Amino acid sequence: MQEQLIEQILETLTLEEKSAMLHGVTFFRSGAVEEKGIPAVETSDGPMGVRNEFPGDSWIPVGISDDYVSYLPSNSAVAATWNRERAYAGGQVLGEEARGRGKDVILAPGINIKRDPLCGRNFEYMSEDPYLVEELAVPMIQGIQESDVAACVKHFAANSQETDRIWVDTIVDERTLREIYLPGFKAAVQRGKSYSLMNAYNKLNGEHCSENKALLNRILREEWGYDGAVISDWGSVHTTRQAAESALDMEMSVTTNFDEYYFARPLIEAVEKGEVSMEAVDEKVRNILRLMLRLKMIGPESGERKQGAYNIPEHRESIRATAREAIVLLKNEDGLLPITPERLEKGAPHPLTGYRKKKRIAVIGRNAEHMHSGGGGSAEIKALYEISPLMGLKIQLGGNVDIQYAPGYYIPGKKDVNEVNWQETSLERQVNRRKDQEETAEEAKQRQEIENQRKALREEAVALARTADEVIFVGGLNHDYDVEGWDRDSMKLPYAQDQLIEELLAVKPDTIIVMVAGSPVEMPWREKARAIVWNYYAGMETGNALAEVLLGRVCPSGKLPETFPALYDDTVTAKNGEFGKPEKVIFKEGIFVGYRYYEKERIRPAFAFGHGLSYTSFAYDHLQVEMDPERGKELEDAAVRVSLEVTNTGAVAGAEIVQCYVADPVCCVERPVKELKGFAKVFLEPGETKQVSMVLPRRAFAFYDVERHEFVVEPGEFTVLVGSASDRIWQQETVEL
Ligand code: GLC
Repeated sequence: MQEQLIEQILETLTLEEKSAMLHGVTFFRSGAVEEKGIPAVETSDGPMGVRNEFPGDSWIPVGISDDYVSYLPSNSAVAATWNRERAYAGGQVLGEEARGRGKDVILAPGINIKRDPLCGRNFEYMSEDPYLVEELAVPMIQGIQESDVAACVKHFAANSQETDRIWVDTIVDERTLREIYLPGFKAAVQRGKSYSLMNAYNKLNGEHCSENKALLNRILREEWGYDGAVISDWGSVHTTRQAAESALDMEMSVTTNFDEYYFARPLIEAVEKGEVSMEAVDEKVRNILRLMLRLKMIGPESGERKQGAYNIPEHRESIRATAREAIVLLKNEDGLLPITPERLEKGAPHPLTGYRKKKRIAVIGRNAEHMHSGGGGSAEIKALYEISPLMGLKIQLGGNVDIQYAPGYYIPGKKDVNEVNWQETSLERQVNRRKDQEETAEEAKQRQEIENQRKALREEAVALARTADEVIFVGGLNHDYDVEGWDRDSMKLPYAQDQLIEELLAVKPDTIIVMVAGSPVEMPWREKARAIVWNYYAGMETGNALAEVLLGRVCPSGKLPETFPALYDDTVTAKNGEFGKPEKVIFKEGIFVGYRYYEKERIRPAFAFGHGLSYTSFAYDHLQVEMDPERGKELEDAAVRVSLEVTNTGAVAGAEIVQCYVADPVCCVERPVKELKGFAKVFLEPGETKQVSMVLPRRAFAFYDVERHEFVVEPGEFTVLVGSASDRIWQQETVEL
């Protein structure tokens, strides 16, 4: 039925009309053919909410007040929850807000693998582990598409650095592609049914992803059977004929010469000259019409399309729930956290007046009040509001605690938000990571002034700390560092924060360190600090959620979705030099990304993949690993049932994320020490025990055989390991396959 209607509509369209549907006629909209009943496709960024409105042909935001929106947790924060339901809820909010803003396609989720801690867009992505990516991307996409809005899973594929991102040739061997960089996308289109997908800027094994037949035609269309719409990244198309012959459907870009886009007049001329077949064009139009039908933009159901809603209270509650679960307690010596009500009780009453002195909390660090929502690149959001950590503490504690703030360090000024958006020049070739260029005399003088100013801010902060009962440092990064288009050139904290932290710990060893950032940083002070909390950019309610955790009203349950190496020099890419280079990067480490590398080389990270503490404790018992009786005994669909009991052995309610890894100690190819193949989040009252069970399908044991071009399971013994982190395995069993 649907395909018949598509053919009927196709027959009515001229070549010019077809071309109009296949490219941007403004920065975020494709061409409509009103008289033929074909609407425009309205797209918008981004993963953390629906981006502000631009006029059709200018990167200066429209700037009126109707495009303030809910600011959602970044994908890193969602991944830190290890909770499929939070990913689904996040998708629901994003989809409903996008529909509410009249959009058809939301350009999200970004799910590229975090190959190196310095990639500027890590904050937008989920994990270093493909299984965790799969398991969270699928529900997120399903949530988005419930509102008759298309997800647009991006950036396909292997777009794991920002340096020279439009031209860099990314060389990845087939097994690494299949085991690490493609699984998230395969799950997104096959299980998540993403209605659209965005090709990446970079070249993959020699061909730009926008016109890479191996990637788009053979893998995406033929092998995975994808019939959704492929939308180019903005300015990622470089030819007419080759792109037209590839499975790319719609070309978008950042320049205003819309009629000259490769799929505009040049495409019409190419067809008229016989260089491109009409069939190739028709195939693209079919995919766009199918997208429109799925979204009820056209077709018999076009009267029932959801209307969506944005800035509604339910969205803010959902965002807050995710932010609470995204917070990762990295360290907590002797239960320094939470700051209990007893610690904040006022002093003894004055004998005469009864006056009781308030306790004082010193909140130090610019990230206690820095607003993050408006940065990051295309993921930038015009947030309806953003609760900072400082405000969150004040909201939670009210007037009975004396909360004093000192910036401690400062962040150089932000440019005016109504300036031309950075994206206008985003196609210019950026080949050098932000290096501290040679200083001029003027800059050296400025640096001296900055040094003096920083010293003064540090002294002010340390002086405040001396007077306080509790000290909370809130530092980390911001979207000057976690930003599209640039990779960081160091994993060290900027703005001399390390020195400030050392000085604070010297006068106040109980200082609580809170990091707000989108990617790992070196923490040379982590042995001295007694409590460390990690907070990804987690949306408009971050400050409330963080305060609730610090004050013990919420028990932290987040786990790291990526390894935090102690030093950047410990990373495989620092050693093989294959990150952040222009022209060409070769993924020489192959499948040994993240914990797969550190475990193979026995390098201890600062904090391991899957690490995260709680205010309570858990016990793991009675692990059972057996062939799943409901599944055939044949190797093709053998499956293994894993079950165990988890008990909350502490005094407060909490949630544990049980992680299940598989090891294949004897195999004809080299395999990682172990790989994440299952996880479950379980909420437990004090003393409560619950049964946790997972089924590991056959593919959980497979590796990709490059001779046979398929995943294979080599018969033999496997080990199934369960734990609360990749470096906290509590039980394991072997199973024979
Ligand atoms: C940007 C980004 C992409 C974004 C698009 C539209 O360059 O790479 O993620 O959705 O262009 O802004």
